[in-house]
Amino acid sequence: MTDSARTDLIDVLMVGPMPAPITQHVDRHYRLHRWWEIEDQVGFLQTQGQTVRAIVTSGRHGASRELIESLPKLEGIFSQGVGYDPIDINTAKSRDVIVTNTPGVLNACVADTALSLILNVSRRFCQADRFVREGRWPNEAFPLTIKPSGKRCGIVGLGNIGLQVAKRAEAFDMNVAYYNRRQRDDVPSHYRYYDDLIQLADASDFLVVVVPGGAETRHLINDAVLNALGPKGYLINVARGSVVDEPALIHALQDGRIAGAGLDVFEHEPQVPQALLDMDQVVVYPHLASGTEETRQAMADLVLSNLDGWFQRREVLTRVV
Ligand code: 8YV
Repeated sequence: MTDSARTDLIDVLMVGPMPAPITQHVDRHYRLHRWWEIEDQVGFLQTQGQTVRAIVTSGRHGASRELIESLPKLEGIFSQGVGYDPIDINTAKSRDVIVTNTPGVLNACVADTALSLILNVSRRFCQADRFVREGRWPNEAFPLTIKPSGKRCGIVGLGNIGLQVAKRAEAFDMNVAYYNRRQRDDVPSHYRYYDDLIQLADASDFLVVVVPGGAETRHLINDAVLNALGPKGYLINVARGSVVDEPALIHALQDGRIAGAGLDVFEHEPQVPQALLDMDQVVVYPHLASGTEETRQAMADLVLSNLDGWFQRREVLTRVV
């Protein structure tokens, strides 16, 4: 806290467990209520809920319409993560409640993860690691793998993270193409634009999904897109599980209609279908694309700058609405 503004009497509702730097700061400088630990949530909303002025949440825990509507004094929702699909933005808007997220600070880590998944799934590092650990090397030959360098990288959603993926793909001599709501005139002109996702999938060896989640992009990656990606193509998802029709993906992998998948996100996290776990051509990661110490600290700092900034000066750094 930098000035004399009193925030210690401000009621803040934390929707689910958050990283320690966030919880400790809120607990120290505000009156913290842990929603997930409250046994009588209905009773809470009728009493203390009436004075809650801020929700602290994440792209995982979100904030539902019911919750937002139950808090008459709510001024802001301060979320960790760039994606805010589980926050009911329309309800927040209609109630004049501001929403903040944490864009920018995680671009490099999410793009690093996309590239790691490309390298892992094509060179089969996870499978090879298991092969060595299981003591099979002396008696068996590990199969040859696929060369990622020089291949075609199709990016679904050329936003700030997508651009970082493109930059890294180019370092591996890949050709970059993209699908976006609109063609961008502020990106290198050799990034070929496709206004048709099926055509991009058809022209890609690695199809990297980086679009926001939510109703608009639900099951954007469907059977037709996977068929276009084809038996030599790999799907990489660092966006949201909801963007991919997961049963369709499983069938495409099982039938060999695509070559493999590198997945940081799943439709029903933290549940991962056994069928995906059973396939060696699939690399799974537990939704940790932004999960480095450095980036999570930067995300926490941004959440807290927004929260403190709002209650001290009515100013936030990264407002969604
Ligand atoms: C976080 C994310 O893991 O930024 C996002 O949208 O998915 C991740 O960085 C998630 O928000 C949970 O905090």
